[in-house]
Amino acid sequence: MAGVSFKGITKIFGKDVKAVNNLNLEIQDKEFMVLVGPSGCGKTTALRMIAGLEEATAGDLYIGDKRVNDVPPKDRDIAMVFQNYALYPHMSVYDNIAFGLRLRELKGFFWQLANAGEAKRIKADIDNRVKEAAKMLDIDHLLHRKPKELSGGQRQRVALGRAIVRKPKVFLMDEPLSNLDAKLRIQTRAELIRLHRDLGITTIYVTHDQVEAMTMGQRIAVMSDGILQQCDEPETVYNQPANKFVAGFVGAPPMNFVEGSISGGAFVSEGVNFGLPSNHPAAGMEGKKVTFGIRPEDIYDCNTSTVKSNDSNTFEATVDVLEKLGAEDTAYLKMGDLSMTATLDPANRLEMGSSAKFVMDLNKVHIFDGDSGDAIR
Ligand SMILES: Nc1ncnc2c1ncn2[C@@H]1O[C@H](COP(=O)(O)OP(=O)(O)OP(=O)(O)O)[C@@H](O)[C@H]1O
Ligand SMILES: [Mg+2]
Repeated sequence: MAGVSFKGITKIFGKDVKAVNNLNLEIQDKEFMVLVGPSGCGKTTALRMIAGLEEATAGDLYIGDKRVNDVPPKDRDIAMVFQNYALYPHMSVYDNIAFGLRLRELKGFFWQLANAGEAKRIKADIDNRVKEAAKMLDIDHLLHRKPKELSGGQRQRVALGRAIVRKPKVFLMDEPLSNLDAKLRIQTRAELIRLHRDLGITTIYVTHDQVEAMTMGQRIAVMSDGILQQCDEPETVYNQPANKFVAGFVGAPPMNFVEGSISGGAFVSEGVNFGLPSNHPAAGMEGKKVTFGIRPEDIYDCNTSTVKSNDSNTFEATVDVLEKLGAEDTAYLKMGDLSMTATLDPANRLEMGSSAKFVMDLNKVHIFDGDSGDAIR
């Protein structure tokens, strides 16, 4: 087992495509780390560098305490599961899972002839490992089938099985659930978490889906444009986003943003004057250009809210669109040119097109520097 460290890793494709830009990231031994970010932010490139499928332009990459920049992929002891895993269609599930191990450990026909005893021992070991992995993935009753006789989720598990039997130091997974339907995704997500708990193998998991990241990662590393924005536990990333990008990327519906400035200890914008907690560091930055951020769940209907309404935390708005989701309502609110999204208790019984007063829990406010986007806290 081993951790993985990126030390100042940069990858430039061609002349000037900086896919990964000075990445510093330490993934601990046995950790489940999720790399998350929008399409093209460099996630796959980062993963492929760990696998040795892509060479870093600059920086040092470590697996455990060994610098691996010059170590060929086959000697890195990692297993990678891709989005488009290809199973061998003519082979049974059993042979698909065993194939890599046989290739690696039974070194050809003539070697097996010369080392019959050893070959027999290896074959028995492979058999054990295939059956053990199949059991863990609940596909042990399918070992004789061909891939075309399986559901999408079962095929996905065969691809995982192929990686598990390798017992690698590190698992790399690149959007392994993206071919599954919504229900299977959630189910397989839970299986992967369980698998990691049982095997304790360092796992680096790539996704562009922030829900997947939040639910699976022990820590998540948010990337944008090749640059690491923040790496921390999911709760911390959610509650204390390092900058406006992270704040807007993590959370659904996304955080509400309003552009404006600080005046008299409050946030002001056209037609808006929201108080800040007096101990908020932005409150004293008179005249500063900032972005005001508030999550939809920190906005309440005044009628039912336990947050006390006053002049500086309340606004009146029209309910433009109301989405009833059962457990909660998502309300798209309009006040003048300003739009806000609020996640509300369905007991409020708001109507589309009606007007109501809403109160924000300003203890939950996020203020970002208007130029750099960095959180002010
Ligand atoms: N072989 C390549 N040659 C040139 N540019 C590349 C190559 N591979 C990736 N890129 C570029 O590097 C950047 C990062 O790509 P990467 O595949 O790492 O993104 P990603 O975060 O995995 O995105 P997605 O979520 O779409 O898979 C993109 O701008 C991409 O176009
Ligand atoms: Mg990718």
